[in-house]
Amino acid sequence: MYTILKKRNLAPEINAFIVNAPLIAERAQAGHFVMLRLTEQGERIPLTIADWDRQAGTIMLVCQTFGKTSGILNSLEAGDEILDLLGPLGTPIEVKKYGTVVLLGGGVGIPAILSKAKELKAAGNNVISIIGARCKELLILKEEMEEASHKLYLTTDDGSSGHKGFVTDVLAELMAEDRPDLVISVGPVPMMKATVSLTKARVVPCIVSLNPIMVDGTGMCGSCRVTVDGQTKFACVDGPSFFGEAVDFDELSSRQNFYRQEEALAREGEHKCQCGR
Ligand code: FES
Repeated sequence: MYTILKKRNLAPEINAFIVNAPLIAERAQAGHFVMLRLTEQGERIPLTIADWDRQAGTIMLVCQTFGKTSGILNSLEAGDEILDLLGPLGTPIEVKKYGTVVLLGGGVGIPAILSKAKELKAAGNNVISIIGARCKELLILKEEMEEASHKLYLTTDDGSSGHKGFVTDVLAELMAEDRPDLVISVGPVPMMKATVSLTKARVVPCIVSLNPIMVDGTGMCGSCRVTVDGQTKFACVDGPSFFGEAVDFDELSSRQNFYRQEEALAREGEHKCQCGR
């Protein structure tokens, strides 16, 4: 059992949880995630390890209500227990001195760039972050990102905070002035795809973090398979970070929509599968 020590509401239906998980905190690196299960019969969901404190033995997870399990998790409070946390999982990004690194985080992709920004800054890089959301209420972890970056840009689709438009608009402006040594982009598929088309044109390496459906998170089920460089990869073990230019984003988009109907039924309490929930 893993105890929730603290819950912080970041935005409507988005919460940050500080969870007591010393063994995971000890081994966590930027790009790792955990698989979480709330009940014996419940599904497992992947969540990025947004941050950790090795001394305190805690990790931070950020959850947006999307399906049934994320909704239940968001209803938990400090003092409640999480049944299973498996991790750290995945292949972390390579943290070293690149020079100037620009990180883009869109919506709940922002927690996934927080630890990367922190680690890359600590490794001596000039870290520029661009975070964006639909409106200012959804622009999460601003203070943490400010601290983790040398320069932070904000964008909102409706212009309610920062630049009106997309994170990629700011990236295009920055790249018109100077060429970064690395770009990292985490967010919705169209955002990552748009980032890659910009970086490709300037021959800048770009790492994206993919979010396909995951079931076991350990390379056994095949549900998270993605095509990278024409080869099948499992995002849970080979990724979730990959060089963006090599990723088949169209296939990823269509696979993400695979269980939309079942998710809607599960939310309505009419779950029809045989997993016993
Ligand atoms: S989630 Fe099952 S193989 Fe990756």
